[in-house]
Amino acid sequence: MEDSEGSSVMPSAVGTVIVVGAVNVDLVVNAHRLPGPGETVVGSGLRTFGGGKGANAAVAAARAGAHVYLVAAVGADDHGGAALAELAADGVDVSCVAILEDQPTGVALIVVDDQGENQIALGPGANGALGAGHVSAALAELLPTADCVLVSAEIPLEAVGAALGEARAAGVHCILNPAPVIDGLDGLVPLGAILTPNESELTQLVGRTGQASMAAMLTELVQRSGASAIVTLGGDGCVVVSPGGTPAVFPARPARVVDTTGAGDTFNGVLAARLAAGGGLVAAVDTAMIAAAISVGAHGARTGMPTAAEIQAARS
Ligand code: RIB
Repeated sequence: MEDSEGSSVMPSAVGTVIVVGAVNVDLVVNAHRLPGPGETVVGSGLRTFGGGKGANAAVAAARAGAHVYLVAAVGADDHGGAALAELAADGVDVSCVAILEDQPTGVALIVVDDQGENQIALGPGANGALGAGHVSAALAELLPTADCVLVSAEIPLEAVGAALGEARAAGVHCILNPAPVIDGLDGLVPLGAILTPNESELTQLVGRTGQASMAAMLTELVQRSGASAIVTLGGDGCVVVSPGGTPAVFPARPARVVDTTGAGDTFNGVLAARLAAGGGLVAAVDTAMIAAAISVGAHGARTGMPTAAEIQAARS
């Protein structure tokens, strides 16, 4: 697929991305199906992976070729130390990750079923104590060299707002992955970030429970933000609406699905990397879709995230 700003070949320019979001340790059990309320389901094994929507997206952007800074918080514990080492090994600059003495590192309890779908419960720990002041100070230092800021919402609303406010004032690309839709997040829509909800997040942001179509809800969001918005639909691809434009549907790429955990983070991280590198939105979405389809082929949020070379190989 091509757009007016570039060809289908990934541009070689390297951009700088600042990711603001959560770092977790993911404790994962595989089971034939997800448990219902009050139900115990017996699964197999227990695996530990690096996780958190911010950290995952940072890794996806780095593997796609961007220079990446992560602004986040971990606890002064073994999980935090291991998380930072793992991120650094993936090329993510963790110098702006706060290490909090009085908080544990965030933990996600995850069940993945035979179809690769997941269920996640979060213990936010240090993510819940990430201060707006820390975010503002980090962005003031990093923004002069940045091309794109990507923010997700497993952190306090004030920290999300600080990141979006600083990024918009600096005039760089700004993406808000509204995951999860925490209280008050809809109030940040007018700040004008590109929004990337999934289907249920879109419904929550627009406040609809009726029969409104995905495209109609997305258009409403775009009218409120004044910026493009993308709803990600898993195996059904995604829909993009830009201000004044009509909805554009991107079909999903064929995928061998083992574990969908982190697919959205991969999409957002690669989208940010390609926008930071100077690509247009259509080309960036196309590349992010390829990366997300590759990412679901392995267990864990980050294991299957592709490098730039792997994305290029899958495209050709
Ligand atoms: O998006 C997937 C992530 O959500 C997991 O890695 C888990 O940590 C939760 O934050």
